[in-house]
Amino acid sequence: MSGASPPAAGTASTAGMPGAGLSPLRLVRPSAAHLPSYRAALERGFSPDNIRGAVAAQEQLEQIASDPDAFLALMDDPEGAGPPVKMPDGTTRPRIPGLRRWMWLGTDDAAEGFVGSIGLRWTKDGSPLPPHVLGHVGYAVAPWYQRHGHATRALALVLPLAAERGVRAVEITTDPDNFASRKVIEANGGRLVEAFDKGEVYGHAAGLRYVISLDPP
Ligand SMILES: CC(C)(COP(=O)(O)OP(=O)(O)OC[C@H]1O[C@@H](n2cnc3c(N)ncnc32)[C@H](O)[C@@H]1OP(=O)(O)O)[C@@H](O)C(=O)NCCC(=O)NCCS
Repeated sequence: MSGASPPAAGTASTAGMPGAGLSPLRLVRPSAAHLPSYRAALERGFSPDNIRGAVAAQEQLEQIASDPDAFLALMDDPEGAGPPVKMPDGTTRPRIPGLRRWMWLGTDDAAEGFVGSIGLRWTKDGSPLPPHVLGHVGYAVAPWYQRHGHATRALALVLPLAAERGVRAVEITTDPDNFASRKVIEANGGRLVEAFDKGEVYGHAAGLRYVISLDPP
């Protein structure tokens, strides 16, 4: 993969333009055109799973190598038909409906286009999330693209997708010491509702639960 530095995302590319300072990022539905940049990011150390980290990244590289179409098909799974979800303690849980979008800069086939990943999960009947699902939305930005406002913009862009799927109160959880994520949530109108215990499968780690209301005030 390329060792070249990525463009100075969200800075030089917006300088002098209306809305300068806002990230020009968009969310894309992952497709074959986006895959080379995504694979390169995994190889460079990005993981879409901030709990299972490098292990999850390696699993994805293997899935992409063996069946890229099946890998891409799972990026939109409104029935929760995909394989069971692996938990940090090694157990599995049934999958619920979900989708994943990639944060993207530039054209669809841009070699350095992949910036980060954001996932949305929901229940079919609008019932509360099962306890092992830590929020409706999860996101991660590649380390070399962090601190340019991309996660803040990506969360704003995913909220309409949540509304379209009937989610009115978007839950997002984070670690108490993840100040970057807390800022991302708060910048999008998140209200801290509770500190909680993530439960046995997460080693009883502490979490903070935020809610973003999508109902008009
Ligand atoms: C959390 C994360 C997604 C933030 O992505 P990002 O694109 O860098 O976020 P933004 O640029 O939108 O930054 C949001 C705010 O956090 C601040 N911030 C970003 N990284 C920070 C850091 N390492 N330390 C302190 N503040 C940080 C930014 O300065 C910004 O603050 P501002 O609004 O006052 O300017 C990214 O750090 C990441 O991928 N971390 C690993 C995975 C993770 O923790 N995911 C969230 C799980 S809930």
